[in-house]
Amino acid sequence: MAGEGPTGLRPVMCVVGARPNFMKIAPILRALAAHQPPIPAFLVHTGQHYDADMNDRLFSDLGLPQPDLNLGVGSGTHAVQTAEVMKRFEPALDEHKPSCVLVVGDVNSTLACTLVAVKKQVPVVHVEAGLRSGDRRMPEEINRVLTDQVADRLYITERSAAGNLEREGVAPERIVFTGNVMIDSLHSHRANARSPADTLRAHGLESALIDHAHGYGVVTLHRPSNVDDAATLGALLGTLAEVAARLPLVFALHPRTRANIERFGLAHLIDPTRMLLLPPQGYLEMLGLMSGATLVLTDSGGLQEETTALGVPCLTLRENTERPITVEQGTNTIVGRDAAAILQGVDEILAGRGKQGRVPEYWDGHAAERIAADLSRWLAAGAH
Ligand code: UD1
Repeated sequence: MAGEGPTGLRPVMCVVGARPNFMKIAPILRALAAHQPPIPAFLVHTGQHYDADMNDRLFSDLGLPQPDLNLGVGSGTHAVQTAEVMKRFEPALDEHKPSCVLVVGDVNSTLACTLVAVKKQVPVVHVEAGLRSGDRRMPEEINRVLTDQVADRLYITERSAAGNLEREGVAPERIVFTGNVMIDSLHSHRANARSPADTLRAHGLESALIDHAHGYGVVTLHRPSNVDDAATLGALLGTLAEVAARLPLVFALHPRTRANIERFGLAHLIDPTRMLLLPPQGYLEMLGLMSGATLVLTDSGGLQEETTALGVPCLTLRENTERPITVEQGTNTIVGRDAAAILQGVDEILAGRGKQGRVPEYWDGHAAERIAADLSRWLAAGAH
C-alpha cells in the first residue's frame, strides 16, 4: 500500500494513459510535491501508449518520474481498452487506498479509471474538465461528458467550460477555474526546446529546406475522423501537397496515421522533398518545431492550445473545437477539411495576415499550483 504523507493524508492517485496526458500530469506532480505541506502522490500509468516514441521520450523530456504502477493495457478496440484499464485499475485502487483519483484530459484511460473510482466511492478530480466539441462521434467527447458527470472536483482551463458543465447539470460549487496545466509544461520547457535544424538533422534531413522564404509549416493528424477513411485521408494528403508547394512541411506522423497511409497505398501523395516525414516527436523537439514554425496544421487539441500560447498561427483541420478560446482569443482558425478553406487560410498567413492572438487568462504557467492549493483545501475539508 502506498504510504501516507507527513500530514497523514493518503496519496492522490494520478492517472496517465496516453501521450497528451503526460504534459498535463508533470506540472501537477511537481506542484503537489512543492505544496506546503506536500501532498503525496502515486502515479499510475495505464499503458495505453507504450511505444518509445509515444511514451518513453515524453517521460524523460518532461522529467516525469517512473510510474509507481504500470497496468500495461496496450492497444485494442475502445471497449477492450477501456475494459482492460477498468479490470486492472480496480485492484490497484483497493490496494493503495488513495485520498482521491486525479485524471486529466479525455482519453479512454481517463474515463475508465473514473468509472472504477466513483463506484468505489473514491472521489474523482478531473483536470481539463468541461471542454465540449458538441460532436458525439468523437470518442474523446464521450469520455469528457461521462467523466464530468461523475467527477467530484472539476478544474477548468477556460471559463466557457463552466457554462458547458452547468448546462449538463454539474453543480457550480464543484467547478474551479485554475487555468491550463499544459501551458505550465510549455513554460517550464520552452528554454530547453530543441532547435528545428537539430531535429531535422537527427533524422538525416537537411535544414536547408526551412530556409525557404516562408519558413516551414508543422503538420500533425491522428483523429480517426481524418485518418481512418482512405478517401478522407487521401483528400487531406492531396491538400497538404498543395500547401507544401507553397511552404515546406514537417509532418510528425502518429503511428495510426503512418499505418493507414501504408494500408491505403497513399504514400505516393507525399513529395519527400517538400513534406518531411518524421516519427512521433519528443516534447522538446515538438516545442522547438512549433515555436519556429510559420504555421501549424493539425487536428490535435493540445497543439491548438500550444500554438495559442506561442503566438503561432494554427489551422485546425476539423469541423469544430472543444477549445473555443483558442479561436476567440488565440491564433487558431477552424478550417475543416475543405481544400479551398485550408489553402485560403495558408495564403492569409503567408501574406502576413495570420492571427496574432493573445494568451488567455490563467495560461500563465501556474495552473498546477492553483490546483494543488485548491485540492489541499478540498481534501482537508472532506467536502466530497
Ligand atoms: C489517443 C487518445 C486521443 C489522443 C491520442 C494522442 C483515446 C480515445 N484517444 O488516441 O484522444 O489525442 O491518444 O496520441 O483515448 N499505437 C502505437 N503505439 C502506442 C500507442 C498506440 O503504435 O504507443 C497505435 C496502435 O496501433 C493503436 C493506435 O496507435 O491501435 C491508436 O492508439 P490508441 O491509444 O487507441 O488511440 P490514439 O489514436 O493514440
